[in-house]
Amino acid sequence: MKILVIGSGGREHALTWKLRESPLMEEIYCAPGNAGITQEAECLPVDIASPQEILQLARSIHADLTVVGPEVPLVAGVVDEFERAGMAIVGPTKAAARLEGSKIFAKRFMQRHRIPTAEFDVAENFEQATRVLRDFGAPIVVKADGLAAGKGVAVCQTFEEAEQALEGFMRQEILGEAGKRVVMEKRLTGEELSFIVVTDGRSVVPLPPTRDHKPLLDGDQGPNTGGMGAYSDDAILGDRLRDEILRTIVRPTLAGLAAEGIPYRGFLYFGLMLTSDGPKVLEYNVRMGDPEAQPIMMRLRSDLLPVLAAVREGQLGAQEAHWTPNPAVCVVLAAKGYPGQVQVGQVITGYDSAEAIGGVKVFHAGTVMKDDRLVTSGGRVMGVTAIAEDLPGAIQRAYLAVSKIRFDGMQYRRDIGAKGLRHLAAGHEPESSQRRRTPSSSYTLKPQPRHH
Ligand code: AMP
Ligand code: GLY
Repeated sequence: MKILVIGSGGREHALTWKLRESPLMEEIYCAPGNAGITQEAECLPVDIASPQEILQLARSIHADLTVVGPEVPLVAGVVDEFERAGMAIVGPTKAAARLEGSKIFAKRFMQRHRIPTAEFDVAENFEQATRVLRDFGAPIVVKADGLAAGKGVAVCQTFEEAEQALEGFMRQEILGEAGKRVVMEKRLTGEELSFIVVTDGRSVVPLPPTRDHKPLLDGDQGPNTGGMGAYSDDAILGDRLRDEILRTIVRPTLAGLAAEGIPYRGFLYFGLMLTSDGPKVLEYNVRMGDPEAQPIMMRLRSDLLPVLAAVREGQLGAQEAHWTPNPAVCVVLAAKGYPGQVQVGQVITGYDSAEAIGGVKVFHAGTVMKDDRLVTSGGRVMGVTAIAEDLPGAIQRAYLAVSKIRFDGMQYRRDIGAKGLRHLAAGHEPESSQRRRTPSSSYTLKPQPRHH
């Protein structure tokens, strides 16, 4: 098969790296890709916000399957464009991508289908938002309705912080159209978890549980980012919790989509908060997470390509995925200034000695070759990902690899995976001998009648 991967981050590097090892793969391309991805695939330029351009590119290389990494092309309708043209693509349609593209849509959807989430209200203008704020009080979470590349959520401790967030989103329009309408919701407390599945709308294959580290600084301090690191370990979830998530969140979400006549195919990411009152949905993403995809792809033992082909064909029920029980850890190296205005063009050294360490893979994000040297070209520069027999080993390996890499202004968190270690120490999680391995087979959800 000829494969085209769309995107240019660590997630797409991890996907391309994994797909490339498939015996079914004949040719692999990535657009637009990055310097690291050129090791795995031929990189071609494309405007990811243009479904037509992506389709043209897929046609020109005679792609048998296109796999979409980021949300922007999905929300823009790239899947609909391909389907109309009879070209194979993995991802949700524009209608289904509203689960991520509009937080108002997502919250109302959860309300309609009784999916556990924070209590909320919607505000269409600043005056309405102020009334909701007075009504709810602080702490409160203010969320821009539209896509905002991780900058659209303000978790506000005080009334004043919330007023400021509303002022920025709705009056100064710092996010443009995306922030003109907002969701305002109660703050939830607990541990966060990224629960990602791949689905053809009826069957789901859950990927191993993963924990992201969104704030910039150690100890979850500082501004939110796209993600500063992630670890994946089966010990994050016990049996009971996994079953509860599937029963109360995953199943009703897919049933709800089907009942509303919105078929879903592709990766579906449930951003969850494990509250004392059970797991609740913070957000949906209609794609794999980044950096989550990096440790997840490191743990995948079986071939990804037949799974994705089956998703597109609606035949996922017959597929299995096999995961190693070994945990994986990804530490993101970010450029100076991230998540704000970043400095680019800094020379990167030491990545080859980092990768020479066994069990380590450096996935690139904002990198480019310039005059035969690897230089930084974006906020998140690379994801240093390591796998080992246990979590402490994986963390140690990842940071050993990080210590080899240098570029001017490099910033990273020193505590990726530390939450998992604390759990092991406190004995909160199931012992490794009893811990549930991520099951290999898919779960089939009962098909739901469609209401038109
Ligand atoms: P999102 O961009 O929707 O993933 O939100 C970014 C981050 O904001 C999440 O990962 C949480 O850490 C935080 N967040 C979102 N909603 C809530 C909530 N209701 N309560 C507490 N934190 C939240
Ligand atoms: N790491 C969070 C995300 O991909 O949205």
